[in-house]
Amino acid sequence: MNYSDFRSDTVTKPTERMRKAMYEAEVGDDVLGDDPTVKKLEEIAAEKIGKESALFVPSGSMGNAICVKIWTKEGDEVILEERCHIYNIELGNLSVLSRVLPRPVPSKRGEMSPEDVEKAIRKRGLTSNGTSLICLENTHNFWSGAVVSVENFKEIRKIAQKHNLKIHLDGARIFNASIAKKIHVTEWTSLVDSVMFCLSKGLSAPIGSIVVGSKEFIEEARRFRKLLGGGMRQVGVIASAGIVALEEMIERLEEDHILAKRLAYGLAEIKGIELNPDDVETNIIIFKIRKNGINAPLFVDLLRGKGILALSISENEVRFCTHKDVTEHDVERALKACREILQ
Ligand SMILES: Cc1ncc(COP(=O)(O)O)c(C=O)c1O
Repeated sequence: MNYSDFRSDTVTKPTERMRKAMYEAEVGDDVLGDDPTVKKLEEIAAEKIGKESALFVPSGSMGNAICVKIWTKEGDEVILEERCHIYNIELGNLSVLSRVLPRPVPSKRGEMSPEDVEKAIRKRGLTSNGTSLICLENTHNFWSGAVVSVENFKEIRKIAQKHNLKIHLDGARIFNASIAKKIHVTEWTSLVDSVMFCLSKGLSAPIGSIVVGSKEFIEEARRFRKLLGGGMRQVGVIASAGIVALEEMIERLEEDHILAKRLAYGLAEIKGIELNPDDVETNIIIFKIRKNGINAPLFVDLLRGKGILALSISENEVRFCTHKDVTEHDVERALKACREILQ
């Protein structure tokens, strides 16, 4: 069957320009610092995010793991939003690799209140090693791609400064936030100490993420990447696609957001679906199934039978994601399938 694939923006295939760039990439041994294409990608990335230095890593999860590791010591506490990716979807890497204690905080659509964050801070003493890091996520995947405001970042920054804590941003989709709000990414990134963002999601590169921070921080990150087995050799072959992603694929994210809105408004009209389409700000749509006898996993199975791929993310929540490889036609097809299943 020919599927319309709304599972994630990670399913995007590299563009023709990316494939050509990969074919023609000038390469060298990047562990020895010899790959000019990786260096170029890292320079472009650092400049776009507004920090001194950048490091190409194989995945977003590895990028986040490296940053948490550098900012913490074993036994430290890390404050993060309770539905965030680092805490929920990265195999407990906080505990496994950094051996830190996650302290999740509730939020309003991804925005933790500064009061809640301050209350969650533990001082070093006889009963706690103390808090050293706050992790933020923007856009917020499991809050339906919500954009966390610059204002919220500023408030949390103030708390972090007061208590001498670092802030790491899981900015897997930070360019979606920037395009949605029409403000430069540096409005957010200037307020944090390290950033991870992904090339392999809506930006459509086949592989790779970037860690960004100070020169000193990136030197440490390079060492820890090696420890994790993430030091790669003639990796300009894939970094070249990342350059195309940063040069050509950011502006078009708006098309994904427009499609997501269209899909969200259509879904919200279907009986048995609970969704406020105004909550959909970027390319991720999360909605609840409210129909007797149909839960989210079954709904997703039934959709598959009709050629539509989506993800169930809990017993009653379904996630759709728009990206460059779905079209208006796919959106209409998805809406028709949802109506047929829930009628
Ligand atoms: C918000 C967020 N952070 C981090 C990641 C991890 O990226 P990767 O799949 O490249 O490890 C994802 C992946 O979907 C994500 O959505």
